[in-house]
Amino acid sequence: MQRTPLVAGNWKMHKTVAEGLQLAKAMLPGLQALDGVESLICPPATALMPMSALLDGSGVALGAQNLHWEAEGAFTGELAPQMIAEFCSYVIIGHSERRAIFGESDQAVQRKLAAALDAGLAPILCVGESLQENEAGRAAEVLTSQLRAALSGVTLNKPGALVVAYEPIWAIGTGKAATPEDTNTLLRNVVRPTLAGLFGDEIAGGMRVLYGGSVKPDNAAAFFQQDEIDGALVGGASLTAPSFVGIAQAAQ
Ligand code: 13P
Repeated sequence: MQRTPLVAGNWKMHKTVAEGLQLAKAMLPGLQALDGVESLICPPATALMPMSALLDGSGVALGAQNLHWEAEGAFTGELAPQMIAEFCSYVIIGHSERRAIFGESDQAVQRKLAAALDAGLAPILCVGESLQENEAGRAAEVLTSQLRAALSGVTLNKPGALVVAYEPIWAIGTGKAATPEDTNTLLRNVVRPTLAGLFGDEIAGGMRVLYGGSVKPDNAAAFFQQDEIDGALVGGASLTAPSFVGIAQAAQ
């Protein structure tokens, strides 16, 4: 099954609008020169509107980092799916920082994911085990449970409607990436079969599954060489143009 690699930058809570526009402009020539790789920038919410104007027609996609599941109402500080869909094609759902710091439950992740799909957004669903769970040999169990919970009641008619990102929590921002081989094994034996159980072989086989956690230009190629890894969700290394473009080039 041919899957177009996706290299996504999660800027997290970094960059003002002016800084973000400057960074995106510096990345654009390198990203636009790519062949057969999709690139995606997920800046803070304040930058979504100006960034959508900059990226319009560029071939570089725009995504948000979060949304609320309700369509509108008294939810101070939140953004509705349609507000995100005005500017974005993707949205990150269930990032471990949101789960850990902001108390997002599996149920909240499921609601957000379903609402994103209803709004026509492609969710990037993040799953991953903690260091403790990893050391206890529970990675497979945790991934299966997170995937089943987030995707319960969800129907998909095409594989491109959803992206999954495997982000082991212990690898995020630590400089200690998982090994490409272990990641590939986990995706082949756990993530892809769980998706196939939910959506059937055809949809699961066409769905992109990314790796995230300390991806840098110098380790990216080793991940992309693995047949189950269809791209990367990049944090720290997406904050400078040379490193993000370097990772995207490695996916080519
Ligand atoms: P780092 O690339 O900084 O480890 O972050 C990964 C991540 O959390 C992307 O969503």
